[in-house]
Amino acid sequence: MENTRRIRVISVTSGKGGVGKTSVVANLAQAFQSMGKRVLVLDADLGLANMDIMLGLNPRYTMDHVLKGQKRLEEVIIAAPGGFHLLPAASGIQELTHLDYSQRLFLLNELDTIQDSFDLVLIDTGAGISSNVMFFNFAAMERVVIITNEPTSLTDAYALIKVLSSKYKQKRFKVLINWARNAVESDHIFRNLSLVADKYLCSPRLDYLGWIPYDKQFSRAILKQDTILRLNPNTPASRSLMALAKKILSIADQGAFEGDIKFFWHRLLNCSPTPSLPSA
Ligand SMILES: Nc1ncnc2c1ncn2[C@@H]1O[C@H](COP(=O)(O)OP(=O)(O)O)[C@@H](O)[C@H]1O
Ligand SMILES: [Mg+2]
Repeated sequence: MENTRRIRVISVTSGKGGVGKTSVVANLAQAFQSMGKRVLVLDADLGLANMDIMLGLNPRYTMDHVLKGQKRLEEVIIAAPGGFHLLPAASGIQELTHLDYSQRLFLLNELDTIQDSFDLVLIDTGAGISSNVMFFNFAAMERVVIITNEPTSLTDAYALIKVLSSKYKQKRFKVLINWARNAVESDHIFRNLSLVADKYLCSPRLDYLGWIPYDKQFSRAILKQDTILRLNPNTPASRSLMALAKKILSIADQGAFEGDIKFFWHRLLNCSPTPSLPSA
C-alpha cells in the first residue's frame, strides 16, 4: 500500500435545487474539521444562495481574481466559522472550463501550492444537469447525491444520475436523504430511487449514506448566518450530520474513490473544448 497522503474530493450535488446541499456542505465541513481534518469547500454553485452569504462572510476576492492573475489562490481562500476554509469560486466558475492552455497551467500551479494544506475538498456543485454541475461531479472522486421525499427531487436525481452514468461513465453514487421524517421514510425514498435506477439505467451503484431529519433549526441557523451544528449541536439533525461525517471518514474502501487532488483539477480543466494538457 502506498504511503502518500491522499486528499479526498467529494462533490455534493442534486437534481433539484433547495434540497439542502449548501447547508449539508457547511455542516459537514465543520464536522470534519472537528474530527481533525482540514477542509476546503469549493463553492461551485452559480445560484444565489451561496455559502459565503449563508455564513455571513464577505469575501473580497473570488476565483475570478485568480484567473485574471490578480491574486494568488491563497489570498482568495477565506476562513469560515468552525475552522474550515472556503474558496468563493462562484463568479469565476463559469470560466473554469473555458480556460486557455496557459491559464490552465497557471491555475494548476496555483492549486499545487495549496494541496498540502487540506485533507478534504467538498464541492457544493449547484443543482441540475448543466455542464458546470456535470464537470464538477465528473472530476470529483466521490459524489454525494442529496434527495428529499418530494417526487420532483427523485425524478431530477434520476436525470442527473442518468447523464453522469451514461455520458460521463460515473457508476458510483452515495445517496443522502434530507428532510426525512424517520429512518423508515428515508429507506423508502432510497429504495424508490434504487428501483428506478436498476430498471432504467445501466446499473450505476447507489450506496445509501444516511439521512438527516427535518429540523426547523436550519432556518434559524440561516437567520443567524451560522450552522445548526454550531448553534444546536445536540439536535437530531446535528447528531445525524456528525454521524454522516464519521461514516464518510470511515469509508476505507479505496475503490470508492480514485485519483488525487491533481487528478481532480486536471480532469476538471480538461473537460473543455480547448486542447488537453499533457499529463503531469
Ligand atoms: N433537514 C432540513 N430541515 C429543515 N430545513 C432544511 C433542512 N435542510 C435544509 N433546510 C433548509 O432548506 C433551505 C434550502 O437549503 P440549501 O442548503 O440552501 O439548499 P440547496 O443548496 O440545495 O439549494 C434552507 O432554508 C435550509 O435552511
Ligand atoms: Mg445551495
